[in-house]
This record gives sequence, C-alpha cells and structure tokens, in this order.
Amino acid sequence: MKIINTIAEIRNVVTRVKKDGKTLGLVPTMGYFHEGHLSLIREARRDCDVLVVSIFVNPTQFGVGEDYKTYPRDLSRDRRLAEKEYVDYIFVPEVSEMYAPDYAGFVEVEGLSRIMCGKNRPDHFRGVTTVVMKLFNLIQPDAAYFGQKDAQQAVIIRKMVSDLNMNPEIRVLPIVREEDGLAMSSRNKYLSTEERKSAAVLYKALLKAQDEIAGGERDAAKVSKKMTEMIQSEKLARLDYVAIVDPENLNTKPTIDRIVLIAIAARIGKTRLIDNITVNLR
Ligand code: PAF
Repeated sequence: MKIINTIAEIRNVVTRVKKDGKTLGLVPTMGYFHEGHLSLIREARRDCDVLVVSIFVNPTQFGVGEDYKTYPRDLSRDRRLAEKEYVDYIFVPEVSEMYAPDYAGFVEVEGLSRIMCGKNRPDHFRGVTTVVMKLFNLIQPDAAYFGQKDAQQAVIIRKMVSDLNMNPEIRVLPIVREEDGLAMSSRNKYLSTEERKSAAVLYKALLKAQDEIAGGERDAAKVSKKMTEMIQSEKLARLDYVAIVDPENLNTKPTIDRIVLIAIAARIGKTRLIDNITVNLR
C-alpha cells in the first residue's frame, strides 16, 4: 500500500491504471475509520482492480463554529486498517494541495443542499459536492462508495453525477450499527459515557416509526410526532429534525406509501448525530 500526498503523484497513478485497462474504485473518507468505512473498503476491494481510499478532512464542508479543528484524526491507525484490507493507495492531501489560498470554484446541487441537514448547515453540502467533484476529477474512479448513514449526501452526490454527466457509478452501502443500534460514526468518539447511552434514542425512535407504520399508520405527521416525543423525552438529546421523505429525491411524503426514508438529526450534548432507515411497503 502506498501513501500519496500530492495531486501530481495521484494523477500519475491514475494514468498508469487507465493505461493498463484496470478498473479503479474510490472510497472517499475523512478518516478515523470505523466498521462503516471498512464495509465500503471491503466492497470496493471486491469490485475493483485498483482501490484508492482518500482521507481528507475537508474544511469547506464545515461551517463556522463546527468541529473542523477537533474532528478526530489518526492517520497511523487508518493506515494499519487500510493495509489489512489490501487497499492499494491512500490519498492524503494537505489542505493547501486541495485548496489554493485564492480558491473560488464550488459545485452545488441547488435545493437538495438546503433542506434537512442543509437548513442548519447551509454550506455543508456545497463543500461535500465540491470536494467529491475534485476527487472524481483527480482519481477518475469507475465506482465510488458511500455510506447510507449520510443518506442526504448520497442523494445529492447521485444528483450531481447525473446532472453533470459524470462517469462514476455511485454505490451506497448499508449503515453499520453498534450493538444497541447506534449508527457508527467518527463523531461517536465525542460522546461521554452518559451521552453514549442517550444516543441510542435515535435508533429507538426510528424503530418506533417502523413499528407505527407496520401497525398501519400512514400519516407521516403522526409518525414524526411519536418520534419527536421519544427523542425529547431523552434529557441529553436536542432534536434538529425528523424528515419522512422519498428516498430518491428527498421530497416530503405527507402520506406513507410505497417506500420512505425516515431521517433524523439530533444533538446529544454538543455532538450532532444523524441516522435513518428506509421503510419499504412494496
Ligand atoms: O462522508 C464523508 O466522510 C465526507 O462527507 C466525504 C464524502 C468524504 C466528503 O468529504
């Protein structure tokens, strides 16, 4: 496994891989790997001849006062884990390699970037699509792998790829959960012991929604209310939103039919967590 820090070097690798007619997979990450990342890496390893994992804590997707500076980083641990999964290249650029001081080029998927998580994090998805576009341009993957935990991110990236006639196939893999259901996330590291216990309420609220729907409830407002009550009853939790939407386009679904994405965001103490499930009635 080779660590690559520069754009010039990664371009050389990509040129060689393409010349050899090999398929290239990319797993874009911000590092601090957990089982969720490893599940993406394993799938990409199975699918592609050459596998690049990028590790880049992308400043443009963090808002003012968010956790860019404190976001967990541990390159030597990530490196060991990636090596065990037979990753070929880790691309770890410095911020200055990705963004020149006068950087001004951004890509935004309008509309979708301003709903749900985008309401409280208005520039977040613009930062995500910009860096993903840059990684796709540099690495030219045949396939790129993302986690369903960031369901809105995945929909936005698919839309960008489709609207801008981009090449990579976007593969979105299931959420990996802890034993009590908490979705794995690098940010779980911020939780104190007490907060960690409280955080299980997110998945419990999603299961509550699933039960309500299984019991015949089709009114999304009523399901949201039950979830909201449950989360509000947890003293360390502060709900940001519950959304019941079409999983393809994130349109709000007042009536639950066919297939819905139920997504939540909440703060547990100071840590903002997201989670979701898809309920399929078909
Ligand atoms: O999901 C993430 O870790 C990030 O948003 C991504 C896709 C690597 C872009 O920085």
